[in-house]
Amino acid sequence: MGKALDGVRILDFTHVQSGPTCTQLLAWFGADVIKVERAGAGDITREQLRDVPDADSLYFTMLNGNKRSITLDTKNPEGKRVLETLIQHCDVLVENFAPGALDRMGFTWERIQELNPRMIVASVKGFGPGPYEDCKVYENVAQCAGGAASTTGFDDGPPVVTGAQIGDSGTGLHLALGIVTALYQRVQTGRGQKVLAAMQDGVLNLCRVKLRDQQRLERTNVLKEYPQYPNGTFGEAVPRAGNASGGGQPGWILKCKGWETDPNAYIYFITQAPVWDRICNLIGREEWISDPDYATPNARLPRLKEIFAEIEHWTMQRTKFEAMELLNKYDIPCGPILSMKEIAEDQSLRATGTIVEVDHPVRGKYLTVGNPIKLSDSPTDVKRSPLLGEHTDEVMAELGYSSEQISALRAAGAI
Ligand code: COA
Repeated sequence: MGKALDGVRILDFTHVQSGPTCTQLLAWFGADVIKVERAGAGDITREQLRDVPDADSLYFTMLNGNKRSITLDTKNPEGKRVLETLIQHCDVLVENFAPGALDRMGFTWERIQELNPRMIVASVKGFGPGPYEDCKVYENVAQCAGGAASTTGFDDGPPVVTGAQIGDSGTGLHLALGIVTALYQRVQTGRGQKVLAAMQDGVLNLCRVKLRDQQRLERTNVLKEYPQYPNGTFGEAVPRAGNASGGGQPGWILKCKGWETDPNAYIYFITQAPVWDRICNLIGREEWISDPDYATPNARLPRLKEIFAEIEHWTMQRTKFEAMELLNKYDIPCGPILSMKEIAEDQSLRATGTIVEVDHPVRGKYLTVGNPIKLSDSPTDVKRSPLLGEHTDEVMAELGYSSEQISALRAAGAI
């Protein structure tokens, strides 16, 4: 079976995490992703957080599957010429250099358009145009500047960043959508365009509900589903809401059997209004079904702490998996807190290709997260990441270079 992006060639100038997540997704959908790296060094993550001496790190291998790697010094005059040929050969150039790096290399948008007017140039930057546009940015900077950190954590503690890499991988996802959209528009216009995904914007997009709450707070001075209600106070900005659900259905994380020794013996429990009677029956508080202080969602809002404490008495008698099974029988929304160990061992995630084991010639077998987006006509076949420069000769030959020319370029330090 073919792949959705068969025939699309990506000149992959990405490094670290945000850009590589984007191009890995495109590779999973079938694009030919040619990752350009500096000889002798490569993407800095190849050597970061290494767990096997001299082997590409998991940081690198888990973000660069299904790609080809070539080495090229784009500051070398001969290397620049190779890059020009690559630009003419490819459909999309993806980069996440610090602002201005591509221009400093001599490859401005105008120059790229001269070389290939159909080229789509897609960039991740920390910030969009404005006071911070020249700043270098990493994941947690984006989480802080995009509104996530100020709204994560508990009210009595400092801002907290999340483990989910919403700044890097989140922005990579946004960029991938921008690229396929630009490819679609190119079918009509025949022209390439610039695609920009700023990490601050991507994080804010994912924090949209908190800007919703900011405006609700300004109008009403209170957020009744937040844990600060009814006894705490609200300031001018959306406060940190602990584990409150953030939606119209109150939720909280509750202890389960074994919580004293297992840091992940917890369950997320949602008191969804349509199943309130079932929750009451299950925990033995049948009287709450008709008691006016508990019978309606609004009546329950000032009593959520008491309600969740009562439900917790019930969950603490069961493991998170027992609770999950029982609650799902009654259609009560809930979710066990799964550790990474449990996820790595989860057979159903293996069966769907969401967790995949691949073999690497230097490091051996490793687990990676497969394509979370499943297309029925474009199945993903997850492959290992390339070694540095593994495909240089192959790609150079496809560009029309003879083996003598390749040797000469190598001797000149261009590739
Ligand atoms: N040949 C020659 N030079 C190359 C090259 C190649 N194949 N690949 C990269 N370079 C050069 C660049 O041209 C740049 O040179 P310059 O500074 O002289 O212009 C240099 O390598 C370093 O690039 P830079 O992007 O500045 O790397 P950095 O390690 O200093 O910064 C980041 C890293 C992530 C902070 C920065 O790239 C950034 O802010 N990117 C945008 C936001 C982003 O994606 N952040 C998240 C990363 S997960």
